[in-house]
Amino acid sequence: MCGIMGYVGKSPASGIILEGLARQEYRGYDSAGIALRREGEIINAKIVGRVSELVRKVGELPPECSQSTSGIGHTRWATHGGVTETNAHPHESADGMVVLVHNGIIENSREIRDELESNGIRFRTETDTEAACQLLAVLYGTCGGDALKAMRKLTSRLTGAFALVIMFRDRPDEIWCARKGSPLVTAFDGSASYCASDPTALLGHTHDLCFLEEGELALLSSDDLKFYGFDGQPRDKSPIHLNWDSVMADKGHYEHFMRKEIGEQPDVLRLTIDAHTIVTNVALEKSITLPKGLMKKIRRVQFVACGTSYYATIVARDIMESLDGNLDISVEVASEYRYRNIRGGEDTIAVFVSQSGETADTLAAARIAKALGTHCIAMTNVRGSTIDREVEHTLLSLAGPEVGVAATKTFMGQISLLALLVMHLLKERETLSASDEARLIGGLRSLPALQQSVIEREDEIAALAKKYCKSKGFFFIGRRECVPLTMEGALKLKEIAYLPSEAYAAGEMKHGPIAMLDEKLTVVALVPDTDLREKTLSNVEECRARNAPTLLIVSEGDHDASAHANDMIAVPRTEPELFPFIGVIPLQLFAYHTARSLDRDIDMPRNLAKSVTVE
Ligand code: M6R
Repeated sequence: MCGIMGYVGKSPASGIILEGLARQEYRGYDSAGIALRREGEIINAKIVGRVSELVRKVGELPPECSQSTSGIGHTRWATHGGVTETNAHPHESADGMVVLVHNGIIENSREIRDELESNGIRFRTETDTEAACQLLAVLYGTCGGDALKAMRKLTSRLTGAFALVIMFRDRPDEIWCARKGSPLVTAFDGSASYCASDPTALLGHTHDLCFLEEGELALLSSDDLKFYGFDGQPRDKSPIHLNWDSVMADKGHYEHFMRKEIGEQPDVLRLTIDAHTIVTNVALEKSITLPKGLMKKIRRVQFVACGTSYYATIVARDIMESLDGNLDISVEVASEYRYRNIRGGEDTIAVFVSQSGETADTLAAARIAKALGTHCIAMTNVRGSTIDREVEHTLLSLAGPEVGVAATKTFMGQISLLALLVMHLLKERETLSASDEARLIGGLRSLPALQQSVIEREDEIAALAKKYCKSKGFFFIGRRECVPLTMEGALKLKEIAYLPSEAYAAGEMKHGPIAMLDEKLTVVALVPDTDLREKTLSNVEECRARNAPTLLIVSEGDHDASAHANDMIAVPRTEPELFPFIGVIPLQLFAYHTARSLDRDIDMPRNLAKSVTVE
C-alpha cells in the first residue's frame, strides 16, 4: 500500500524517482507526487491519477528541478483523507523545513494534530501523514537542527505503522528514513543512495539491498548509507544480494503483466521442483532445518495467510490431510487468527504464507504464534521481507517478481513449494510412503508441460470469456481439491473484472445460493474425472434445471460431460491431489479475458493494492 522512492546522488533525480514509482505503481495508484530541490527550496509536484500523469507534471516544473540530484516520490493508496491533490504526498511542514512521504497509518495522528493546531500550526490536508510532517518540523527546531535527535523524538511519539522518507530543506545531500511496521529497502551503489518500498524499484541500479528492520533509521547521502536504531545508536548492516533480474519485472511484449505472469507458471513450477527434489525424493533439508525428531511430536499443523495465499494453503491442507490422517490440520485467515483464542505451543507447527512477506495481518498472526511457543515457518516470495526476517524458518518461493496486482504465478510458486513442504514434514514424521512420494513428485514433474498445453489453448478460453462477460454474475462450484480453485476463480473475477462472483462447495448450492440462479447467472463448475465427478455433475444438473448456463472445466477425454454443459474447457489429467496445479490456469485466463473484454484496468484494478501493509 503506497509506494515510496528516494534518491540522493550525483545524477538528475527526477527520472530515477519516476521510474521507481512506475515500477511500484501496483502498490497504490490513486494519486502520486514528487519532491525535488531548486535553489535551496524543495518543490513539490502532485497529481490525482497515475504516474504517467506525474511525469507530464514534472515536465512543467522550472528547468532547475530537472537538475536536482536528490528527491523523494510516492504513489498513494488512500487511507485517511480523500483522493485529492492536496492529500497526495509529499507533505510539507508549515515552515517548509520538512518534506515527507509515508506508507502506513499513524494511529495517534488526531492527538498530534490537535496539539499542534492548538499551538497555532495550520494543517492543510486531511491525512494522518501531515501530523508526522508538522511534528518533525517542530522537533527539528527544538533539537537545534539535529536531525538524528529529531528523528528519535519523532519515532518515539508516533504510534501505528510507518515507513517515512524525509527531506530537510537545509540538508541538501541527505534523505532520512524510518521504519516501523511498513517495509522499506535501501541501497548504496558507490555514488548514490536509494530507498524504496519494494526491491523491484531498485534492481535497475543494484542487487545489493539493505532492508530496514523494525525500529530502524537510515541516513542516505551521495557518498554513504548509514543506519541507526530508534535509540540513535549506529547499526551495522550487510547488504543482501537479491538474485532477481530487473527484466523479470518488465512486461516484455505482453499487453499486461498479469498475462505474462500466467504464462510464466510452468517455469515457476519447474524451477521449484528442480530446486527442491532429487529424482523422486523431496530434498528440502538444505532450505529448512527443524529440530530433529520434532515432527514426531507435532499434533497440530496450522496454515495461515490472506487472499490468494490463503487459498494456496487450502491446497496444502488437502494434500497433507490425504496423506496423514493423524494430524490436526487447519487453515486460518490471518486477520481472524490474530484475534481468536488460537491454540499453539510446542506441539504445533504454523506455516505463514505471504508472497510479499509484508501483509500486516499475516505478520501479526506470526508474532502471536511465536509468542505462544509455536514452531513457525514462513513462506514468501521476497527475500529480506519482514516475514523472512522475523520468522525463524523461511522458505522462499521461486516465482520471481510479480507485478500484476492479481496474484497468479506466485500462487503457483506457493502451491508447488507447499506441496513439497508437506511431503518433507511427513517424511520427517515417517508417515509419507515411498510410493506416495514418488507418485507425487512424478506427478509434479509432468505438470509444467501439461500447463503449457492449457496456456496454448488461450484463444478458446478468450472466446468463452467474451461470450459470458455480460453475465450478471458467476458461481464457481466444485468439490474437495476443487474448492480452493472455486475461491481463487471467483476472487480473480471480482478483483480484475469487478463482476459479482461467489465460490461454493458444490454440495452447498442447494442450501441457499441456488435461489439466485436464472439464465443470466453463469455457473463455472470444476469437474475433473475423479471419484467425485458424478456427485458434482448432479449439482451441475440442479443448476441447469434453474436455467443457469454452465461452463465446465473437465478432464481431457471426458466427452460425456458435454451433456451437462453449455460449454467446456478440457484440461489434462493429473494425480487427483494435484488438480489445482492445472485447474487454476483456465480460471486465471478466463478472468483475464473477461476483464479484457470489459476493458478493465487489469494490472491495476480499482481500489486494490498489491501488498496490504495496513490492517
Ligand atoms: O502478499 P500476500 O500473499 O500476503 O498477499 C495476500 C493477499 O493480499 C493477496 O493474495 C491478494 O488476495 C491477491 N493479490 C489477489 O490476487
